[in-house]
Amino acid sequence: MTIRTIGVPMDLGADRRGVDMGPSAIRYAGLSATLDDIDRSTVDRGDLTVPHAEERDPERAATNAKYLPEVEAICTRLADEVDDTLADGALPLVLGGDHSIAIGTLAGAARDAEIGAVWFDAHSDINTPATTPSGNVHGMPLAAALGLGEFADTPWANAPNLSEENVAIVGLRSVDDPERERIRDSDVTAYTMSDIDERGVVDVTEEALAVATDGVDGIHVSLDMDWLDPSHAPGVGTPVRGGVTYREAHSAMELVADHDDALRSLEVVEVNPILDSHNETAELATELAASALGKRVL
Ligand code: ARG
Ligand code: MN
Ligand code: MN
Ligand code: MN
Repeated sequence: MTIRTIGVPMDLGADRRGVDMGPSAIRYAGLSATLDDIDRSTVDRGDLTVPHAEERDPERAATNAKYLPEVEAICTRLADEVDDTLADGALPLVLGGDHSIAIGTLAGAARDAEIGAVWFDAHSDINTPATTPSGNVHGMPLAAALGLGEFADTPWANAPNLSEENVAIVGLRSVDDPERERIRDSDVTAYTMSDIDERGVVDVTEEALAVATDGVDGIHVSLDMDWLDPSHAPGVGTPVRGGVTYREAHSAMELVADHDDALRSLEVVEVNPILDSHNETAELATELAASALGKRVL
């Protein structure tokens, strides 16, 4: 199956500028050459056009979700791109950009199919405008896709065929109080770093993939680079100590590749080259995408 790369240079969903250069940094790190090592054809569709913050007003007072109208416009376009890519029989590889873009990827992936999602992240990204401590939409995409809280009234943000029972979050270590409550009240499955410590990344990821794939047509895999420990991935806007190691991350992505029959879309987000050390986070993002898409040593 052809892999179609779609860049989304979005930084309006995060406080730290520079994450809009993520798609460039990932390409500069050698994405296309790395993907050539996999036995699949690849095509790069370039980047969606995203306005710069200087051209816009955060409008936080109105919505408590900064730049929500811009996020809506971009995610709606991204959803169409992802849907078109799937309709053409290709696999969308979406490059962020901050994690708000997952709203669009999920909406597109869930337009014509029942989907599940595995969310590799230090954060649960399940805030709503009423609960966000920051106003940043990159802390809200799961709530938006699932139509939780005020997002029940924003159809553009909802992934129509994604249900809580098929969402698994892996690697949590930074969860806001209202998010903790929301996870407890929901049917979302969440694995913390303690679960990974106790059971190992392979066991936990296998179970997460089983949850996501249960009874659906396919899954979306969202990889927030702050899932990794900041010692391996320093180039992220919201680093949290105590993340997975380089090897653990590759193991998990290889398990994703083992489910290639289910994989419908993949997204790698939150690479911020301004905060990075010699593009190492972008290089790692490239490697992990390749592992998830089937790259093997032998
Ligand atoms: N929970 C915090 C917030 O809502 C941090 C979210 C970080 N999300 C991310 N995709 N890096 O602002
Ligand atoms: Mn369609
Ligand atoms: Mn995160
Ligand atoms: Mn995230």
